Amino acid sequence: MMVVHTKQELDEQLAEWRQHDDHIALVPTMGNLHAGHLSLVELAREHAERVVVSIFVNPTQFGEDEDFEEYPRTLERDTRRLKTSAADLVFAPSVETMYPFGLKDATTVSVPRITENFCGASRPGHFDGVTSVVARLFALVRPDSAVFGQKDYQQQLVIRHMSQDLNLPVTIITGETVREKDGLAMSSRNQYLTDDERANAPVLFQVLSSVADDLQNGRRNYEEIEAESMTKLVDAGFDVDYFSIRRAQNLEIPDRDCDELVVLAAAHLGNARLIDNTVVTI
Ligand code: PAF
Repeated sequence: MMVVHTKQELDEQLAEWRQHDDHIALVPTMGNLHAGHLSLVELAREHAERVVVSIFVNPTQFGEDEDFEEYPRTLERDTRRLKTSAADLVFAPSVETMYPFGLKDATTVSVPRITENFCGASRPGHFDGVTSVVARLFALVRPDSAVFGQKDYQQQLVIRHMSQDLNLPVTIITGETVREKDGLAMSSRNQYLTDDERANAPVLFQVLSSVADDLQNGRRNYEEIEAESMTKLVDAGFDVDYFSIRRAQNLEIPDRDCDELVVLAAAHLGNARLIDNTVVTI
């Protein structure tokens, strides 16, 4: 497995693969890899002969008061883990490689509407940063497919929207959320949890799962379910950002007949902001 940092090194390797007509899949990450990322790499391999994993802590998707400085940078450990995975190449660019005109003069790619609520509302500018860096990664790697985790449900919808709207020649694949044994969704930010908070954190998925059961059993009073769920989370010590039942396809408000729903939640537990979701097909 190769580790490259520059556009030139990346281009050389991609050109060699393309000569052999190899399909290339990209798994964009910010590093600090866990089993969830590794499952995306394995999924990528099912769709392509070559797998590129990008590792880049993207400054433009962090708000001013967020954890950009503290975000764990663990490139050596990440590459060690990836050596025994299906990854063929790690692309770990500098900020200058990703944003050659500098951050102030960088072109922004912005998806409207679907970015307005949920994580877009609690983290203003976040999705502009995500779509801008993913568009740049797509332009640099020109992958045939790209894999994103379902844990960031809104993010993968936003990226699908961007790719379809701009006719980008890339197939977007969504990989299932990988969970700890007690149900907590794996996330690089789980390490911000204290021991007590970590013991409490699985309540988020428990509440999501109980709502999924309610919906499967025919409950449709969405607003009441949301309010009850928020109370459960607040009682368990969470500071809730949002808890919402929406149409899985586009995050619009569902009517009673909608048969593909997503239950989305984000909540703070101490210094960690946890997000999770469950898709309910009725
Ligand atoms: O999900 C992430 O880790 C990031 O938002 C992504 C897609 C790698 C863009 O920086």
